[in-house]
Amino acid sequence: MNRDNRLGTNKKHKILFVCLGNICRSPAAEGIFRAIVERNGAHDGFETDSAGTYSGHRGDLPDRRMRRAAAARGYELTHRARPVETDDFFDFDLIIVMDDNNFTDLIHMAPSVETSRKIKRMSDYFSRHSLDYVPDPYYMGTDGFELVLDLLEDACRNLYASLEDELHGK
Ligand code: 4NP
Repeated sequence: MNRDNRLGTNKKHKILFVCLGNICRSPAAEGIFRAIVERNGAHDGFETDSAGTYSGHRGDLPDRRMRRAAAARGYELTHRARPVETDDFFDFDLIIVMDDNNFTDLIHMAPSVETSRKIKRMSDYFSRHSLDYVPDPYYMGTDGFELVLDLLEDACRNLYASLEDELHGK
């Protein structure tokens, strides 16, 4: 049996979404990605979580403005914020960051070159937007939260499609 055939084994895709505070962008990414997984009946193939490079919001629910904007699109965000830990680099297959600051912080945190290769940018999965990062909406108005959700919905759709292609060996 092909050991890397995730359909033929019980191996799951383990994905960690990372931003700065873990109260706006990454919990929203996690909620959107999970909704896509559920919609596709692929629950057994994925494990997802989110975390922040800054620990100051540990234990907090996502920012109220993000929860409200996400709920209006049908996503309920119930994650509790936590900081990235060294074990995350071993526990997850893919670590997806929102911007270059997150990327640099995690490159410095990665315990090995091999684990640092798991770090990818969310913007690598944009197909409808020309930005190369997901902007921090914390100090933005309502439009900022809507833009972030637009970007994340686009990227999560493409991320899911790329992993599904991988499952089917495309
Ligand atoms: P996030 O947004 O990184 O998308 O969760 C932020 C939330 C809080 C802070 C910064 C960014 N903060 O400085 O408290």
